[in-house]
Amino acid sequence: MSIRRLPESLVNRIAAGEVVERPAAALKEVVENAIDAGASRIAVRLSEGGIAQMVVEDDGCGMTPADLALALERHATSKLPDEAIENVVTLGFRGEALPSIASVARLTIESRPAGASGWRRIVDNGVLVEEGPAALPPGTRLTIAELFARVPARRKFLRSARSEYAAALDVLRRLAMARPDIAFALEHDGRRIFDLQAGQAREERVALLVDRALADNAILVDLVREHVRISGVASLPTFNRGVADHQYLFVNGRPVKDRLLVGALRAAYADLLARDRHPVVALFIDLPGTEVDVNVHPAKTEVRFRDPALVRGLIVGGLRRTLSEQGFRSVQRPAAGMEAAWQVEPAAPSAPAFGGLFGAGPVRDLPPAMVAEATRSWTAPDVMPQGRAEVALAPPPESSDHPLGIARGQIANTYIVAEAEDGLVLVDQHAAHERLVLEGLRAGLAGQGVAVQGLLLPEVVELDEPACDRLEAAAVDLAQLGVEIERFGPGAVVVRGTPALLGNPDAQRLVRDIADDLAGFDVALGLAERIDHVAATMACHGSVRAGRVLNVTEMNALLRQMEVTPRSGQCNHGRPTWVKLSMGDVERLFGRK
Ligand SMILES: Nc1ncnc2c1ncn2[C@@H]1O[C@H](COP(=O)(O)OP(=O)(O)OP(=O)(O)O)[C@@H](O)[C@H]1O
Ligand SMILES: [Mg+2]
Repeated sequence: MSIRRLPESLVNRIAAGEVVERPAAALKEVVENAIDAGASRIAVRLSEGGIAQMVVEDDGCGMTPADLALALERHATSKLPDEAIENVVTLGFRGEALPSIASVARLTIESRPAGASGWRRIVDNGVLVEEGPAALPPGTRLTIAELFARVPARRKFLRSARSEYAAALDVLRRLAMARPDIAFALEHDGRRIFDLQAGQAREERVALLVDRALADNAILVDLVREHVRISGVASLPTFNRGVADHQYLFVNGRPVKDRLLVGALRAAYADLLARDRHPVVALFIDLPGTEVDVNVHPAKTEVRFRDPALVRGLIVGGLRRTLSEQGFRSVQRPAAGMEAAWQVEPAAPSAPAFGGLFGAGPVRDLPPAMVAEATRSWTAPDVMPQGRAEVALAPPPESSDHPLGIARGQIANTYIVAEAEDGLVLVDQHAAHERLVLEGLRAGLAGQGVAVQGLLLPEVVELDEPACDRLEAAAVDLAQLGVEIERFGPGAVVVRGTPALLGNPDAQRLVRDIADDLAGFDVALGLAERIDHVAATMACHGSVRAGRVLNVTEMNALLRQMEVTPRSGQCNHGRPTWVKLSMGDVERLFGRK
């Protein structure tokens, strides 16, 4: 077979395969063009998830009739001033989005530069069908209709209008987050979805686009190392989701979906969340163009860092540090489902501002539930309550000294009731203690190693050979963590000591769990992270205080330790370890306020 050059229409259609695989991808390209054109307002209207039609209007620089013709030609771009891709500051640079879209849809472009008149070009599946003057305000209006109508192989792969819409919304959300200086509006099938003002603070825009409650449940991130800066918002571990959809990552203002970055996020929250829970984050990474290659993928959603370890290290280390600086801070609002169950009265309007981020204590909107409880008629319980109250000898503390208060009693052998200067604190002693044990193990790891308590009788644990191999390979690190094991034949290990912090754990179960943990890890995880996971597993075994009767001295010791321990506001699975009912809430319950 002889070699021939492909006709341009075919080349465009082949490129379209990569660049516009669904409506959301085409939308991304045209909205990026509007951003690159310097628009201050971008309005998007979708019909049937963008399958039937997408209209994008901007008030950017517009194009002259001559530019309009060029824009539809392959590899024609106004965006690369010199030959160096690393110097590109625009979202586009390949000069192929518009011709690709035009080859698989009916594309109408109307455009008008300031001080000139407008012009229109209609291209139907690669063929120019109409051109002439157009009336519109300065800027550009792009209409993409009947996407893939003539490309049945592609059309077949489109999902329902609903899921195409979800993908389009995701694209627009990301671009709108990247540029709070631009106003964005979205309409779907005639319904207004959002209308965002220009000039919002970035964290405010993120909260408006993702979840307004994020404003009260996130921390502001701002980290710098060498030439890399990472800023944005990250949810408290207690504010988590069942899916990883709400992780928005940007490199030099470009939304990306990058495995390295996603992995780093997972590592940063590793022991703060159960493995099936995910944080909500919007992180903006800025670094010099020479440090990152954006030309890795036609859709430009992947990047390659020159120094991936630096970026990863900054995310993992910096985010962990930022989260740990939150100390015992816990979620400010109970889970959405729980809150709904409590809505017997309209909830008090919650403060929207990020300004109060570090001010108020957690769980401010609690009272309605308590009101509901209180109004239910009281009958004597069948079982005597288990609570024990202590005589209130100590005066209520100064909040600055003891934010978690002075212990007053224990309920169900599980919850500590404490009186703080400004309210009533409830602590889940099991969850809190587990957290303290983990932080203790970590401190030991970072320092001299964790103190070991030798077993009077070494214990033999039988396991399959690969499990024994893994334990043997990790023996040195496990010793650092206070677990002393040795290989004992092909199918067993012998345990000689366990961490003193754990009290008297069941050595059999402990070692089996560690072996499972070692097997479950992604080999890509660094050793330090693997050991950290093991520490979290061990902490579960150390929570000897679950269901245990504590005296006031022990309870106070736990509270004091929580106050000085990093990350003690959530257990190792991301649940809160304590909640507070403010004095004002209590007074409202009794109608005193
Ligand atoms: N909304 C718009 N306003 C003004 N000019 C535009 C607009 N959309 C496209 N253009 C012009 O058309 C050119 C071609 O756009 P196209 O999206 O095909 O390529 P690109 O943005 O340069 O690169 P890429 O393929 O990476 O997106 C742009 O370089 C720009 O000059
Ligand atoms: Mg473009």
